[in-house]
Amino acid sequence: MSAPRLSDSLVLALSATLALTLSGPAAAAPETEVNLYSARKEELIKPLLDRFTEQTGIRVNLLTGKAEALLQRLKSEGRNSPADLLITVDAGNLHQAKSAGVTQPIDVETVNAAVPANYRDPDGHWVALSVRARPILYARDRVDSGQLSTYEDLTDPRWKGRICVRSSDNVYNQSMVASLIAADGIEAAETWAKGLVANLARPPQGGDRDQIKAAAVGECDLALANTYYLAGMLDSDDPAERDPARALAVFWPNQPGQGDGRGVHVNVSGVALTASARNREAALKLVEFLLTPESQAWYGQVNGEYPVREGIDISPTLVGFGPFEADDLNLGRLGELNAEAVRVMDRAGWK
Ligand SMILES: [Fe+2]
Repeated sequence: MSAPRLSDSLVLALSATLALTLSGPAAAAPETEVNLYSARKEELIKPLLDRFTEQTGIRVNLLTGKAEALLQRLKSEGRNSPADLLITVDAGNLHQAKSAGVTQPIDVETVNAAVPANYRDPDGHWVALSVRARPILYARDRVDSGQLSTYEDLTDPRWKGRICVRSSDNVYNQSMVASLIAADGIEAAETWAKGLVANLARPPQGGDRDQIKAAAVGECDLALANTYYLAGMLDSDDPAERDPARALAVFWPNQPGQGDGRGVHVNVSGVALTASARNREAALKLVEFLLTPESQAWYGQVNGEYPVREGIDISPTLVGFGPFEADDLNLGRLGELNAEAVRVMDRAGWK
């Protein structure tokens, strides 16, 4: 069976809703589909959705788009939105959806039991599905890992001209700065951002993979990047991806005994139930499914992300990065502090 084109299924869903509205309340029919807006690349979610459909018979109509575009769409569609669920990356984006009023609490016991509290919105408006860390990556042949310790230490003059990081308009960096504000306060975070900018090897450009490649060719010695990029490159069959990644190693900053020992900065991908959800039951079933040990293992094995649940096997590549302590800040704070973080980066001249 070929999958229905998404635009068709969304139109269908919408007209079904209108029909329901016109004919008044009807007896609840079993929900046979879920409409999902997803900011993840299709290949990073579709295999799980297919498995869900196989197991439950519930069809998932997937609309893939950029995080900002999907949020904009949810806002403009309002209560008429056919979407039941929003999957997006970064707590900053999840928080924005909550702030925009397009989500509603997920209060399901199995969900709350599966996901540690710091990886859930305090009001239940989103829950994490996977975890990504943003450690320091260093060039094996040029950096002695004994010289590394904390994010805060990256402003030390010995790193002058040696650090690569992408631009401040990227939410990953905004969330990282938000975590520094949470840990050290606004003033210290601004001083840090200025110090980091002063130590950059080049003006921020490109994505996380580009920072890894720049460090591999010696344009810089340290890069800040999310772990799944490095994992994806290491696991790639393409030498142009694999070889640069092999030149770098992971350093876990802010571990116990380093600075305040709060743990490495982590972020999540997550899911929210939309305020307009009409297939609520089926949607929550999908959320529960994405948190089963089986689905969680998929994130760790295939996606290069860390499972959100404890006790799940991860890929040999991730095992190779070694164990780490993660900052246990409630990630909702990253969203709350996002605007402040953007202003801090702006004042620091972080392009
Ligand atoms: Fe990413």
